[in-house]
Amino acid sequence: AAGGPLVGRHVLITSGPTHEPIDPVRYIANRSSGKQGHAIARAAAAAGARVTLVSGPVNLPDPFGVAVVQVESARDMLAAVEQALPADIAIFAAAVADWRVANAGTQKIKKNGGALPALSLAENPDILATIAHRNAGRPQLVVGFAAETQNVIDNAQKKLARKGCDLIVANDVSPANGVMGGDRNTVHLVTASGVDTWPTLSKADVAEKLMAHLARMIEVRP
Ligand code: C5P
Repeated sequence: AAGGPLVGRHVLITSGPTHEPIDPVRYIANRSSGKQGHAIARAAAAAGARVTLVSGPVNLPDPFGVAVVQVESARDMLAAVEQALPADIAIFAAAVADWRVANAGTQKIKKNGGALPALSLAENPDILATIAHRNAGRPQLVVGFAAETQNVIDNAQKKLARKGCDLIVANDVSPANGVMGGDRNTVHLVTASGVDTWPTLSKADVAEKLMAHLARMIEVRP
């Protein structure tokens, strides 16, 4: 692969869910196939970028020509992302668990005559917000995703401001849409200057169009 609009750029992508251990055999997780994030990694490599993909546990092959870092928990994902910086573009497509189990057991929790174990939760770091709010070494373009089931645009605009990113890719993941685990996606690109709604596309086409869009954005904001 010789050419492409992102030659000489480093693109960092998170994908998949995180797993937060309850004990050595159980975990809390979000629903995420990793299909959209992995498709974005593939598209970034096809556009000529050097690509680092930090992925939670998924049932997908490693995209060809991409450096893949496998992680389990949100805290591991943040550490791997920080390790992979600097990057020109960072795209946070992972479905990160908002909470981890603060009192995770080091041994398997056993049933105990009907007495229920009490899990206490602690909030995970927000990886997107942490990187977007960095003073030194912030990637030039920071992109977040917003999976919503209602008020998609409104929630995405609030998220854009709160997280401090440049672009939010918002989609409606209501079960009827079949986005989660499926091969198609309908997205809205939300920036400070407006909303661009794309037609329903394959996740591969969303990834390709997104990389082309980001390549144009980074050109005009050197
Ligand atoms: O707040 P919410 O989880 O809806 O935000 C989604 C966006 O934030 C996604 O881009 C997701 O990858 C990112 N995120 C993150 N770390 C978290 C939670 C969300 O990077 N702990």
